Amino acid sequence: MSIKASSIDSAARVLKFGMVGGGQGAFIGDVHRKGATLDALAVLAAGCFSRNYENTLATGALWNLAQDRLYRTYEEMAQKEAAREDGIDFVIICTPNNTHFPAAKAFLEQGIHVVCDKPLALSSKQGEELKALAESKGLLFCVTYTYVGYPMVHQMRQMIRNGDIGKVRVVTGQYIQGWLATELESDGQKQASWRCDPALSGISNATGDIGTHLENLIAFTTGLKIESVCANLRPVGEHRKLDNEAEILVRYEGGATGMMWASQVAIGHDNDLRITICGDKGTIEWIQENPNYLRVDLLGEPSRILSRGNGYFYPEVNAMNRIPAGHVEGHFTAFANTYKAFCTTLSAKLDGKPAPDLFFPGVDAGIEGNRFVEKCVESSALGAVWVKF
Ligand SMILES: NC(=O)c1ccc[n+]([C@@H]2O[C@H](COP(=O)([O-])OP(=O)(O)OC[C@H]3O[C@@H](n4cnc5c(N)ncnc54)[C@H](O)[C@@H]3O)[C@@H](O)[C@H]2O)c1
Repeated sequence: MSIKASSIDSAARVLKFGMVGGGQGAFIGDVHRKGATLDALAVLAAGCFSRNYENTLATGALWNLAQDRLYRTYEEMAQKEAAREDGIDFVIICTPNNTHFPAAKAFLEQGIHVVCDKPLALSSKQGEELKALAESKGLLFCVTYTYVGYPMVHQMRQMIRNGDIGKVRVVTGQYIQGWLATELESDGQKQASWRCDPALSGISNATGDIGTHLENLIAFTTGLKIESVCANLRPVGEHRKLDNEAEILVRYEGGATGMMWASQVAIGHDNDLRITICGDKGTIEWIQENPNYLRVDLLGEPSRILSRGNGYFYPEVNAMNRIPAGHVEGHFTAFANTYKAFCTTLSAKLDGKPAPDLFFPGVDAGIEGNRFVEKCVESSALGAVWVKF
């Protein structure tokens, strides 16, 4: 048994980070905070955790932050942190979608590296603007597509790169949840309310919220580029304006085809993300709710279930192990894997050293996600017709 990944080789420095969003009662902010600190590569030093300052104070107190590092607005935080000798090295943005662009811009303008949740912005145009700004300032930009932090997802990518299942022919993916089967937002449920509001969520709900994970996961594992999409998006519910249900056909460059299903009204399904990739030599399938296992079917051979931590994976996948086989790794460690890659890359950059060979999704992946949403919305509005990507 070889468990190395949880021990970091002499970290050059411990980075300081701040957060926009992630106040008490928020969902993903707390996962970010735990993922970012799991390997002791970064410490939380500042925050504007909420628009409600009382919440920011309470969240900051829980994490032992000095009161002068707790801010009423992200604009104030960007300016004041940039002016401090001991200011933050990077910021994590995990607010509702409409805040991503202005907040990321505010920190980039102040020379602070950015980690932002998906969907990157409200449009690919905004995403391009963030990319140009980050590049002009020489700043790192990570977009947290959670699922590319899982070892089995890296195994899928390596298997495809190495030709283990041959040329990819068909890819299907579903990301289905049931939590919006009723109009929870009418009772003020926080996460439902902003997701169903076009002003806060953007031009889409389900396609942007969970469809972008599918798009990114398939792009990461297969390397396929979308050539065109044909999408049927619809709101389910009397008062809803944005899609909660999306069926999307995809044609990829080079001839492969695919189907994606994103739903928030699939009763009985919690966070049922799964993808199946069929090549001309075999098929692989990963189910997020059982993330330590990978099903592999090679032509003419019996089905196999690969089990994380058993040593027979590609070396970069074995290197991601934190605990032995059969001890379940999951959501927090997936975030930690992305943060480990981001933090060690940023430390190396600050120390003038070469970047480590570790993957984190960058701003281009975020822009692709926004473009995917735009093309799906366009296709659906035209009556579910094929639209070039
Ligand atoms: N990567 C993933 O797997 C994943 C999972 C869930 C959500 N997300 C994304 O994360 C973001 C947040 O989603 P959530 O479900 O955690 O939402 P949430 O409503 O639970 O949390 C949002 C937080 O942002 C704060 N906030 C809002 N406006 C603010 C502002 N102007 N300044 C400071 N704080 C502000 C809120 O007070 C709250 O603490 C969304 O963009 C969502 O798409 C990503």
